[in-house]
Amino acid sequence: MRKPLIAGNWKMNTNLSEATSLVQTMLPELDRIAGVEKVLCPPFISLVAVRELIKGTSVELGAQNMFSEDNGAYTGEVSPLMLIDLCEFVILGHSERRQYFAETDELVNKKVQKALDFGLTPILCVGERLEDNEAGRTEKIIKGQVQAALAGVNSTSHLVIAYEPIWAIGTGRAANGKQANATISLVRNTVASLWDSKSAQAIRIVYGGSVTGENIAEFIAEPEIDGALVGGASLKANEFVSIVSQTASLKST
Ligand code: PGA
Repeated sequence: MRKPLIAGNWKMNTNLSEATSLVQTMLPELDRIAGVEKVLCPPFISLVAVRELIKGTSVELGAQNMFSEDNGAYTGEVSPLMLIDLCEFVILGHSERRQYFAETDELVNKKVQKALDFGLTPILCVGERLEDNEAGRTEKIIKGQVQAALAGVNSTSHLVIAYEPIWAIGTGRAANGKQANATISLVRNTVASLWDSKSAQAIRIVYGGSVTGENIAEFIAEPEIDGALVGGASLKANEFVSIVSQTASLKST
């Protein structure tokens, strides 16, 4: 049985005091919800403060990105060595990184290897553009992204993959549960062909893209979908708590 995972990707939102108060608002309720792994991914500058706030609770922490080198002359970058004593997870290869910061499959692959080397759990994002989806290229694109990101990576259960169709991110136009389940199944089969089916069955693969308290149940009801990577809705305490608690009750039945 895979433990469901809900991660909140706050993206480039909240300053230190906003991040602190958002955590303080949602933490008591989040902490009480069992059976779901709960991960907050605030901006880098708030990781230290959030780490302190969640100490001793069931809530975990993730970064939104990291560089692929240990240290050195890379102005403005954050290395895995800086993250290992702060957080457990790191989002890698998010489509916004690929689109606005020209991250390639090769760089994402290096980052995945590096995160795993240091004991961080990558939340590896893959997803197709609208034009690829409409042209029937989803399968090819997703397979290619998974193969490239995991090239040379040994099988591990410390990997989460987020299937996030780009056309669904921040648009209010989520995929439907069946579509997402089918693509996630393809992701798992691709991982199985790289590793083996037992290892592929062990990793969590989640859906992301306009997930809300209204539609989470549709995704969680699907057998291949192990949770969600939530953007906009993770900035609203009530809504994020609702997403996590619905996941807990639906996956435990
Ligand atoms: P969204 O973002 O929920 O705002 O669509 C999801 C993500 O980009 O991780």
